[in-house]
Amino acid sequence: MITVMSCGRVLFGVLIAIISFYISQIYDLNYFRLIGTHPKHDFDNVARIPYTDLVRDDVTVDPLILTSMELYGFFYVYEIPGYNSSEELDYLKQFFDLSETVKMKLAVNKHNTNNVNVYRGYGPLVKNVGSQYKELFNIGPHETTPVYNSTDNVLDKLRTLSKERNVWPVTQNNHFDEEFKRVFTSGFNLRRNIATGVIRSIARSLEHPQLIERFTEHEFSTLGLRKYPVRTSVNKNMYSRFDKTTLSELEHEDSTVTILATFSNPGLQALYENSYRDVPPSRNGFIVNIGTLIEDITDNIIMAVRHRVKQIDHVRYSIPYFFNPSFDADISTSISGRKTKAGEKYKIFGEWMKDYLPIVEPALLKDKFTDV
Ligand SMILES: *[C@@H]1O[C@H](CO)[C@@H](O)[C@H](O)[C@H]1NC(C)=O
Ligand SMILES: *[C@@H]1O[C@H](CO)[C@@H](O)[C@H](O)[C@H]1NC(C)=O
Repeated sequence: MITVMSCGRVLFGVLIAIISFYISQIYDLNYFRLIGTHPKHDFDNVARIPYTDLVRDDVTVDPLILTSMELYGFFYVYEIPGYNSSEELDYLKQFFDLSETVKMKLAVNKHNTNNVNVYRGYGPLVKNVGSQYKELFNIGPHETTPVYNSTDNVLDKLRTLSKERNVWPVTQNNHFDEEFKRVFTSGFNLRRNIATGVIRSIARSLEHPQLIERFTEHEFSTLGLRKYPVRTSVNKNMYSRFDKTTLSELEHEDSTVTILATFSNPGLQALYENSYRDVPPSRNGFIVNIGTLIEDITDNIIMAVRHRVKQIDHVRYSIPYFFNPSFDADISTSISGRKTKAGEKYKIFGEWMKDYLPIVEPALLKDKFTDV
């Protein structure tokens, strides 16, 4: 009797053990099935920061941003109230579909000598300029003409140029003209909010809140609408020296703060553990990264990620926004007071930009681009 009872208990216990084992397996399976719906990706752990938390200085985002910037060199901002990336993409496409005549009226001085705009405005497709093959339209933060002083030296001219006023398309379609300006003015402001939020967050993490003061004017900031047509021919400049992949943007690091919209386009790759890996598209949000100058200023704690764009077999559109320090901001000292690498040659951001800009925009700017 006793033996039968204890035997029953043992059996019962074994049964429970078996059942709980199966339940745990089912939960595990469901767990794997759940994450299995999103294919495991190299960049699954990159931070995704809700816009509202970022701009209202919610400090819980700080460690997420810092860690992502230390490990990967980028993160995402998403859940942006009122932002519609499809609408931007729509207006971007409509712009590039405008007639050559309408677009050339907005062209920068290099491509239309009747125009005084040098950096903001339209850059037509130029073949055979190194590896670049893109059509672009640059928008800045200024709507009024800066005072131009004919006695200015090169640096003063560049300071004026940094405040160059925007040009906007004028077509037969009034509604398009107004909506285009509205969408991209608001797009510019949105990205500026993100960029200042990012700088404030990094500044809090690095315990150097004054960092944001170097960006107060940010007059040289730019929103760039870009169209990369499919190439009809390939030249040797387009092959990666790293792994021979055909590229439409060569491997590089940015310089300051970049807020990038890639919509649903593939192609962007970032260097991680010594190989280039696909960066998931920004969709209805943005990819945020910093460049070498900010890495330098922040004592190399956060990383300027090396990245590139693979050649893809269809037209690619993207909108980078570059948030820059103020023209007169000191870039020669880091947040800890160390002399920066940039500081070996330059004191203020404007001096640095004078050398940097013609290198990154050879299709847009003349050699002596301050001489108009
Ligand atoms: C976003 O913009 C697209 C294209 O302009 C439009 O079709 C769509 O309805 C918009 N979505 C929202 C949620 O407003
Ligand atoms: C132009 O530059 C000269 C020399 O630096 C200066 O004296 C003059 O006030 C400037 N004019 C304006 C309008 O800024």
